[in-house]
Amino acid sequence: MTGNSPLQANLILASRFENIEVAEHTLLDLCRRAGCADDIEYPLVTALREAIANAVRHGNRQDPARLVRLEYRISNGSITIRVDDEGEGFDPSAVPDPTAEANLLRPSGRGIFYMRRFMRRVEFERAAAGGTSVLMERDLKSSDSDHG
Ligand SMILES: Nc1ncnc2c1ncn2[C@@H]1O[C@H](COP(=O)(O)OP(=O)(O)O)[C@@H](O)[C@H]1O
Ligand SMILES: [Mg+2]
Repeated sequence: MTGNSPLQANLILASRFENIEVAEHTLLDLCRRAGCADDIEYPLVTALREAIANAVRHGNRQDPARLVRLEYRISNGSITIRVDDEGEGFDPSAVPDPTAEANLLRPSGRGIFYMRRFMRRVEFERAAAGGTSVLMERDLKSSDSDHG
């Protein structure tokens, strides 16, 4: 990356799980060009995959006519990723805690937990068009903990 100029990319994808791969390739390409630490690729990709899987499954209900909009922006040593869907939206505070004893054996319900674990900041907003807009941010340098 030259100086402090941002690296930015926007992608618009149909709601198919296969498209997670497309989004992942773009993220890794940007990351490598920005010189991000190798060991943050896994946490970034995991958070991205979970956010897109939720947009496709819960937001757009796998209707390929509904779109997932992605925005990547790398500047000043950090990356922000926005994932927008065209669903009904939801209340993140009502999502059960996967680390609660009663939920430990459940195979589902861990996506948002991983997003929060691997990114410094995760915010859920109502997208202008009505769906969910997930904003995630973390530093590009490696950190001692998994937490950006
Ligand atoms: N983009 C979204 N649109 C609507 N609901 C969502 C979205 N993302 C998450 N949710 C809700 O939050 C719950 C928890 O998501 P997550 O932690 O990824 O677990 P899982 O996807 O395995 O259910 C989902 O079951 C769903 O009810
Ligand atoms: Mg999920």
